Amino acid sequence: MLDLLIHNATLPDGRSHMSVAVQGGRITEVTQGLTPEAAQAAEVVDAGGMLLSSPFVDAHFHMDATLSLGLPRLNQSGTLLEGIALWGELKPHLTFDALVNRALAYCDWAVANGLLAIRSHVDTSDPSMLAVEALLAVKKKVAPYIDLQLVAFPQDGVLRSKGGVDNLKKALSLGVDVVGGIPHFERTMADGAASVKLLCELAAEQGKLVDMHCDESDDPLSRHVETLAFETNRLGLHGRVTGSHLTSMHSMDNYYVSKLLPLMAEAQLSVVSNPLINITLQGRHDTYPKRRGMTRVPEIMAAGMAVAFGQDCCMDPWYSMGSGDMLEVASMGLHVAQMTSQPAMQQCFDAVTTNPARILHLEGYGLEKGCQADLVLLQAQNPIEAIRLKATRLKVWRRGALVAQTPARTVTLTLPGRPATTSFLHIK
Ligand code: FE2
Repeated sequence: MLDLLIHNATLPDGRSHMSVAVQGGRITEVTQGLTPEAAQAAEVVDAGGMLLSSPFVDAHFHMDATLSLGLPRLNQSGTLLEGIALWGELKPHLTFDALVNRALAYCDWAVANGLLAIRSHVDTSDPSMLAVEALLAVKKKVAPYIDLQLVAFPQDGVLRSKGGVDNLKKALSLGVDVVGGIPHFERTMADGAASVKLLCELAAEQGKLVDMHCDESDDPLSRHVETLAFETNRLGLHGRVTGSHLTSMHSMDNYYVSKLLPLMAEAQLSVVSNPLINITLQGRHDTYPKRRGMTRVPEIMAAGMAVAFGQDCCMDPWYSMGSGDMLEVASMGLHVAQMTSQPAMQQCFDAVTTNPARILHLEGYGLEKGCQADLVLLQAQNPIEAIRLKATRLKVWRRGALVAQTPARTVTLTLPGRPATTSFLHIK
């Protein structure tokens, strides 16, 4: 007897009339032939031909800052640097309970949106480890429904701030999973490069993954990603290192990039681009034309690297918008990168599902026999329509158990001279 049978589903790879069988929290079968008549299941769900996907994964977020919008004041210039200064003003007022409550509220939004795995950076600059302790408590609390991976993030610069290295090491010893960094925020290019070397060595020593905020600027000479790739190769950290943002690549000289991309590919770097944030925070020193500031996503994908689109911020010192909806993130990425061919739009869906799952090294992620039964049923017929409509998450399952459901979106039209109709506005 199965715990759950979902039938008549369309999968992201285009296979239709598919059935997914679940038992003991794992997928036991993905097949076309399994009907409710043929299989005994405690619960049967007819997907009605809609898209059944593995859950959304956010490879880049700041859960210690989320939902703090307006505290202690709003970001007037809307710039990255004022955001960092504002976060510094807020830090002395943070409390453990407030941090936990805001993070848990965001996690509720995430589950409702079918977002069941998040990599969050946590600021390690404060020697009290308040934010670290709070997010470690959140990680434990949400574990039944969200995989929360934490990155030790020295927001004030690991070399620039007093005690930066010790604080970061302390966070790792408390159980933070990944080594972070922010080389472009160190005082000099040399210090930035030194921070990358030091942090990669630390990760190699401790067997940790690496994910650095890297070159989050419009300065084409901000080239710390080169050092990140070099150190990855030198230390044998292939496939374990992520460069987040890489916005300076947008402004780099094409010849230099033609030399950089093979080095990054050799290191098997992963890349996280954050389209909502990059399009709003970058290019702020430009008049017109204004640069978009997002990294070269299609070119990095074409070079064989895993690229994810991250949310980064939601209602915090850097960004007043956001809702934990990874389809909104994918939509912005698609537009900014001009990824409008059919395969490229499909890749944008992968950039918020399978690619970040790979970057996080998530165990048992996927729509195959033996994978965790973490699933999202969307009110869309395929991944491209899901992005276009920011499709309703009809049902969300975690380990085979229903954790969220939203009624299907319909509209009732009462137009003059026509009978009233209730339907969902999509093309059959
Ligand atoms: Fe970030």
